[in-house]
Amino acid sequence: MKATETTAPIGSLTGRRPLPPEMSERTGCPFDPPAARFRLLEEQGPVAKVPLLNGAHVWLVTGYQEVRNAISDIRLSSDVVRNTNAMSLTSEQVTTGSCPAQPDLQRTDGMFIFMDPPEHSRLRKVLTSQFTVRRMRALDQRVHEITDELITAMQGAGTTADLVTDFALALPSLVICELLGVPYEDRAEFQERSAITLNINNTPEQQRDAGIALWEFMRNLVIAKRTAPGDDMLSGLISGELAADPPLTDAELIDIGVTLLGAGHETTANMLALSVFALLEHPEQLAALRNDPTLIDAAIEELLRYLSVSHTGPTRIALEDITLGGVEIPAGDTVVISLPTANRDEERWPEPGQLDVTRPRDTGHMAFGYGIHQCLGQQLARVELRVGLVELFTRLPGLRLAAPAAEIPLRTDMVVFGVHSLPVAWD
Ligand code: HEM
Repeated sequence: MKATETTAPIGSLTGRRPLPPEMSERTGCPFDPPAARFRLLEEQGPVAKVPLLNGAHVWLVTGYQEVRNAISDIRLSSDVVRNTNAMSLTSEQVTTGSCPAQPDLQRTDGMFIFMDPPEHSRLRKVLTSQFTVRRMRALDQRVHEITDELITAMQGAGTTADLVTDFALALPSLVICELLGVPYEDRAEFQERSAITLNINNTPEQQRDAGIALWEFMRNLVIAKRTAPGDDMLSGLISGELAADPPLTDAELIDIGVTLLGAGHETTANMLALSVFALLEHPEQLAALRNDPTLIDAAIEELLRYLSVSHTGPTRIALEDITLGGVEIPAGDTVVISLPTANRDEERWPEPGQLDVTRPRDTGHMAFGYGIHQCLGQQLARVELRVGLVELFTRLPGLRLAAPAAEIPLRTDMVVFGVHSLPVAWD
């Protein structure tokens, strides 16, 4: 089986941006959702029609209640290959208005994030059974050890670093290695390839080649786990007590591995780096957290709400004509769900535009989505955020930006918002 025959490489999970650029641009505070979305909310209400340059259009859902309704409505499909308009567009095609005849995104056997029930339910059920309390506890300990190693390496290299490459990208990548049971000797290769797929300084060809190589890597890992199972999630999916019935095929297992990497790496990495940036730019919030470390869990929920890094999706396709927020959406149309604006809805939170780590802990935000596709890795992400942030601010005294805040390159051009790099220094 060749990667190109059966699957779309990792870039396909992360590379699509079905919105015109102005809907993602941040002209004021880097942490605030794009102003154009709020303008649209004011002018058209919480469900608005956004024209694309190729003549197609998408519906942008911005209000809290409307987002909650849309994201849990199974008449809105996650099977984005159904749509041959907006979802087939690359960023460049959205900008220039050119439109390809065929979508180049293929949904494959195990990419359950792009599936609807009952296919989605079958895979989600087996995956959920693998996110056991025992496995999460063991991972918690490994997250501490990996964090410790990364910070020690940063300290060993001096008193400055790019927090994105030296820490934020590395931590979730190594945690996914733990989850999937990637052998230690292969981790550098795994990490290097997954970093290439996420770095826009690489050409699309380099990203694509690295994505295919990762798929091949995952394929070899699945073959190895069939022969010699371990205590990891891939082995559990193959042979554990809770393994799927009928058993998962190799193609499904490979895609599940790739999906976990795609869904859990870029999101967590950007939440980590952006959270550090946001706390450094809100010193009074950092001070409140330092004064009362028991605020950490509430602070993480607040950072998830305030930053909402999944900023250009989830995306859905209407399977039938539906009415959402009083607006008629015809069957076949693309619906883009705006989590950042929903998580700043004034009807849901007082002063939603303020980062306030002392807010009562509230998990009603939708940074992890909502409904049947709600994030499977959210507990793991919370552990990585908690351990990562606490250790960075404890072990790197005087942690500060090493460049003016206005010069930090923002990922407005990517599906997952964050920073491309974060130069930092410490004492
Ligand atoms: C801060 C970090 C993270 C954020 C903000 C985030 C966000 C999200 C969101 C918004 C969705 C819903 C997608 C949809 O409705 O179409 C989602 C789904 C998912 N996430 Fe996460 N995620 C994070 C970390 C992780 C981690 C660490 C993992 C696993 C290791 C993970 C695995 C998944 C999977 C497998 C799904 C698909 C679930 C399904 O389709 O049933 N995520 N995530």
